[in-house]
Amino acid sequence: MAWICKKKWVIASSLVLAVSLFVVLVNYSEKSYSQLQLMLGQGLSPRWILSWQHKAPRAHLGYVSVPKKEPLKLSCDVCSVVSSSGQMLGRNAGPEIDQATCVWRMNNAPTLRYEKDVGNRTNLRVVSHTSVPLLLHKPQHFFGPASNGTVYVVWGPRRNMSPDGNGLIYNMLRRAAADFPSARIYVTTDERMDYCDATFKRETGRDRITSGSYLSTGWFTLILAMDMCKEIRVYGMINNTYCKSEGYRKVPYHYYEAGSRDECAEYILHESAPYGGHRFITEKAVFAKWAKKHPIKFFHPEWQLS
Ligand SMILES: *[C@@H]1O[C@H](CO)[C@@H](O)[C@H](O)[C@H]1NC(C)=O
Ligand SMILES: *[C@@H]1O[C@H](CO)[C@@H](O)[C@H](O)[C@H]1NC(C)=O
Ligand SMILES: *[C@@H]1O[C@H](CO)[C@@H](O)[C@H](O)[C@H]1NC(C)=O
Repeated sequence: MAWICKKKWVIASSLVLAVSLFVVLVNYSEKSYSQLQLMLGQGLSPRWILSWQHKAPRAHLGYVSVPKKEPLKLSCDVCSVVSSSGQMLGRNAGPEIDQATCVWRMNNAPTLRYEKDVGNRTNLRVVSHTSVPLLLHKPQHFFGPASNGTVYVVWGPRRNMSPDGNGLIYNMLRRAAADFPSARIYVTTDERMDYCDATFKRETGRDRITSGSYLSTGWFTLILAMDMCKEIRVYGMINNTYCKSEGYRKVPYHYYEAGSRDECAEYILHESAPYGGHRFITEKAVFAKWAKKHPIKFFHPEWQLS
C-alpha cells in the first residue's frame, strides 16, 4: 500500500515539475526573443530568425494594439500586397492575389465591385492617419463583424497618434475600438516611425523632414511586409522609370477613383513638390534595391530585377 502511495506521489510531483519547466521555457523564449528584436532595432532579420519566426506568429514590438498596447502578432508565408493604383484595372489578377496566405491592402481601397482585378480577401490593411476618417465613414464595414478579422495597422505623426488624449486620430481609433471590441486595430509606435524615417535617410542620403517630404503608405507597408512575410508579391506598383518609358499606361492614381488625376502626373507632382510631397519615385528605386536582398516580386506591371 505504502509503495503505491509513494509511486502516485512521484508521478504527481514529476508532472508538476514538467509543467513548471515548460512554463519557464515558454516565458524564457518569448522574453529572449523580444530582447533580441530590441537589440536588432526591430528591423533586421537574420536568416536564422526568418527560419523559425514563421512557425509561430511573431510578436512585433513596433506595432501595438489600441487601446491595450499589445504587440502585433502575425505570421504570413506568402503575402499579396495590393497597391491602390489604377494599374490594377483590367488585369484580372484577383484570383492570383487571393491565393496567397495573406492579402494586404492599403487605406480604404475597396474590393466590392473590383474583385476580378483586386481579389476579395483582406487580412491586413496598412492605413495612413489621413485615411482613418475615410474608414470611419463605413465603420460597420471596416470594423464590424463584416471585417472578417482584418488587422488594421495605422501610421501617422506623433501629433495625431499620441495616446495621451491629444492625438486626434488616436482618439478616433480608440472610439472605434470601444464601439467594435472585436476590431483588430494597431498603431505604429513612435520608435518604429523613427526607424522608418531613418531607413529613408540611410537608403537615399536625404533627411525626410528637412527635404520636405512624407513617406508613403507603400513605404510603411513594405517595411512591415519584409518583417512579417516570407515571400512578398506586390501587385500594381510601377517602377521608378515607368513614367519615363515609351507608351506607358495612363491610369487613374487610385483604381477606385475613376477620372482623378492620372498616376504619373500625380507621381511627378509629388516628386518635385518642395514641401509636403511623397517621394513615390525615389521610394520605388529603393524598393528595387530591397528586392535584390528580400524575396519581393512585382507584378502588373512586372519589374525586371536581376
Ligand atoms: C472570392 O473569389 C473567388 C475566386 O477568386 C471565388 O471563388 C469566391 O467565391 C469569392 N468569394 C466571395 C465571398 O466572393
Ligand atoms: C468580409 O468578407 C465578406 C464575404 O467574403 C465580404 O463581402 C466583405 O467585403 C469582407 N469585408 C472586408 C472588410 O473585407
Ligand atoms: C520599368 O518599367 C518599364 C515600363 O514597364 C519597363 O520598360 C522597364 O523595363 C522597367 N524597369 C525595371 C528595372 O523593371
